[in-house]
Amino acid sequence: MTGPSVVPVLCAVLGPAEADVVRSLGTSGTGTTVTRRCADLPELLASAEAGSGRAAVVSATLPGLGRDAVARMHEAGVRVIALDEAPEPSTDRLAAIGVDGVARSVEDLVSVVRDETALSPAAARGKAASSAGAGKGRIVAVWGPVGAPGRTTTAIELAVALAAGPPVTARPGGVGRSALPGRRGLFGRAGRRGPGRGDGLRTPRGGAREQVVLADADTYGPCVAPRLGMLDDSSGLAGAVRAVGTGPLDVETLARHAPVALPGVRVLGGIGRPGRWAELSGAGLDAVWECLRDLADWTVIDTGPILETDEVLSYDTRAPQRNAATLGALAAADVVVVVGSGDPIGLQRLVRGLDDLAAVPHPVTPDRLVVVNRLRAAAVGANPRSSVRSALTRFAGVDAHLVPDDPAGLDAGLLSGRALFECAPGSPARAAFGHLAEQVRQLVHVRTTPHADRSPWVGVTGSSRA
Ligand SMILES: Nc1ncnc2c1ncn2[C@@H]1O[C@H](COP(=O)(O)OP(=O)(O)OP(=O)(O)O)[C@@H](O)[C@H]1O
Ligand SMILES: [Mg+2]
Repeated sequence: MTGPSVVPVLCAVLGPAEADVVRSLGTSGTGTTVTRRCADLPELLASAEAGSGRAAVVSATLPGLGRDAVARMHEAGVRVIALDEAPEPSTDRLAAIGVDGVARSVEDLVSVVRDETALSPAAARGKAASSAGAGKGRIVAVWGPVGAPGRTTTAIELAVALAAGPPVTARPGGVGRSALPGRRGLFGRAGRRGPGRGDGLRTPRGGAREQVVLADADTYGPCVAPRLGMLDDSSGLAGAVRAVGTGPLDVETLARHAPVALPGVRVLGGIGRPGRWAELSGAGLDAVWECLRDLADWTVIDTGPILETDEVLSYDTRAPQRNAATLGALAAADVVVVVGSGDPIGLQRLVRGLDDLAAVPHPVTPDRLVVVNRLRAAAVGANPRSSVRSALTRFAGVDAHLVPDDPAGLDAGLLSGRALFECAPGSPARAAFGHLAEQVRQLVHVRTTPHADRSPWVGVTGSSRA
């Protein structure tokens, strides 16, 4: 029945339309045939993963049909076409969950299925990528190994420094307030502490302010919200992921989950307890990261330390992934900032962590900046800057951006729930994080400049200014 050019189709259509769909797709000469009639979504997913079809025709209202299910079918190489005959079409919702094509009637189905399955896998990926909207706001993932090297501190200070905008003397093109002119109003509201914390506050460096979202995707020790004195009882990030499941995520909805907590910085708070990790599904977060590119010039993501993929631990590759939030953030990032602690144990973990990062099975951008935080002679001996840099060059082949130990400044921040520029403007750590922000900008600028030198570690060598 199925010749090489006949497209095998899985069918999960509800109600009397199912018989019409099967008949229509099975008509000789259409180049399609139904290989499996599925009663529900689990049966459809099992058939897709068993390789029984190249396309799936589903009712737009099929219970459980969401981003995760569509992503699973895509992974199995199955294109998803929704049959949506309702007078009020749900085109936006279907597009938001990643459906490839929509037919408004059974008569349209054959041509939609043929069109979608005619795309090569590369063309299909390209179509998905262009609809995902690359080239807008940038994503920076802050990662580091276990041992509390300062991921959260770096993420907070980096977000604040990016929001301050580039120094007036150096504004790399491609990213900036002008990149997302229509979103400025969404960042003008003071959220956490009332008047005086919003748009009117003078920026530390007087540059053109940019819009930043700080997201807490650490599912082991989430603490951005409490660290900034925000209420901890609901997770903005989990709320945004839930919103993805119920329909298209737009920037206004996303902004509602992310109150302004620092000048120019919205915060998507993390899950309050590690036990809630399953709420941050990989597919849901992917949609949130892409929508954030529309909301903000920069998204800074604080991630957890563990990089293991669950496939290594378990053969059930369909179970929720314990580290999906971290791995997905790294995969979505335009720049990865790797943070290690400036002591012998921390440096050893950093070197191993860089190896682990290189071994992550998902593609992660090679654009990385290494930060050694809490640098102090008391832990690494005299000349800490040169000894740390030469150790990293020797054992990991990288140079590092150095952030000095500044217990007085950071403790003042912890006590007041504020960023360094507010509570310790003269802090040496704050200055170092400001320089780090410039390096992030520079890296993105180099990347978006045609014919620029694209060494994987560009921007790292000679980066120490701490
Ligand atoms: N440069 C610094 N100087 C002094 N103290 C610092 C510095 N950076 C971070 N700290 C302090 O180190 C502690 C750990 O920092 P932070 O919470 O940022 O680490 P983390 O890597 O996010 O840890 P976790 O694994 O708990 O998520 C905090 O008390 C913070 O105030
Ligand atoms: Mg942390």
